[in-house]
Amino acid sequence: MTQEYVTSAPPDLTLVDPPGTVQRREMNRESSVICLDDYRHPGLPAEAYTSARYLKQERATVFSQYWVCVGLASDIPQSGDVYPTEVAGMPIVLVRDRAGTLRAFHNICSHRGLQLVSQPCNVQGNLRCPYHAWAYRLDGQLKSTPHFGGYYNHSYDGFDQNSKGLSPIRCDQWLDLVFVNLSGDAPPLQDYLKPVVDRWASYDLSQLRREPRQVTLQCNANWKLAVENFSESYHLSWVHPALNACSRMEDHFGFDVGNIHVGQGSLLYKSGEIEGRSLPTFPNLAAHQKQTVAEYVTVFPNLMLGVHPDYFLVFVANPLSPKRTHERMTFYFVGDAAMTPENQPLRHLPMDLWQDTNDEDIAMIERMQIGRNSPRFDGGCFSPELEQTVYRFQQMIARAVEG
Ligand code: FES
Ligand SMILES: [Fe+2]
Repeated sequence: MTQEYVTSAPPDLTLVDPPGTVQRREMNRESSVICLDDYRHPGLPAEAYTSARYLKQERATVFSQYWVCVGLASDIPQSGDVYPTEVAGMPIVLVRDRAGTLRAFHNICSHRGLQLVSQPCNVQGNLRCPYHAWAYRLDGQLKSTPHFGGYYNHSYDGFDQNSKGLSPIRCDQWLDLVFVNLSGDAPPLQDYLKPVVDRWASYDLSQLRREPRQVTLQCNANWKLAVENFSESYHLSWVHPALNACSRMEDHFGFDVGNIHVGQGSLLYKSGEIEGRSLPTFPNLAAHQKQTVAEYVTVFPNLMLGVHPDYFLVFVANPLSPKRTHERMTFYFVGDAAMTPENQPLRHLPMDLWQDTNDEDIAMIERMQIGRNSPRFDGGCFSPELEQTVYRFQQMIARAVEG
């Protein structure tokens, strides 16, 4: 069941405890897991934002045990397309094989570990390692190992070529988004995303069309600060005066999206207009009272989504190091009619607004990062009404990292 809380009316702030929480709460009294019933308890310690050790732990837990979005199916539309990507520094390659199946592999050669694919491209024959020319079929099988048994001898007794294919990664897709689960044992993606899919069931997401222009950038802050910033609107009035003029802090509301993801939205979204024209919107918005509603969901750990009457946002924050983050924003509009050349200026309006808004956010999160170098930083504290999304996200991180 979805629980809503409008910030202008005091909400019911009761959080749903996931199974086992109470026990774990007892066990972790001394750890950085935030006590569920005390919002004034400090959040994650500075080390969670600054140390290589913590990021290494996050790689093994947060980024391996959960589904993470690593690319878009439209990055590899044709058979033979390959697309190198990564999550938290772990190299991955997405491949569209000859049968059209989307696959993910660890992006290393089985021979001596060279990064196999360095640029997106289309492979006509096999994937060939540039170092000693080992070749792999697009389904990952190792096909040839020239001279590996000595000159003109391509194998040797006891060499098991079948076990030396590319190392596959569990991979699945929702809309255009490609997810991987490195540990291979997370619940199905469909289950993981069900609260999001249910929440947005009234939007016809089959209408989404990808805008070719995208926004990518790097900032000097820990990836969690980007996610936390996206999930709260408390800072809106002061950091985004232009945005606040059309979408005020007090018009925002929070909502639950299951026990793992967090959501917030605005009741007064207004589509951009140029000379009285605006973009097509999702059908049947009026029937669901969604004509002026924008909703944002943070899918744990690092995927941020936004649905508006006339477009859909996909925003991924990927850690490059403890203090540096890569951000990628992709935009989708509603139906073929939105994608005409005449509508390009209208499509660019929200993209420009996001770019400006994000610049304002980055100035803040980079200073949040600097603040974490202070010996006086104690984890901070949270507004129970306006920052419970941040609080819950930090709690999920602490729980995942500390087990
Ligand atoms: S490292 Fe790839 S063939 Fe040697
Ligand atoms: Fe912001």
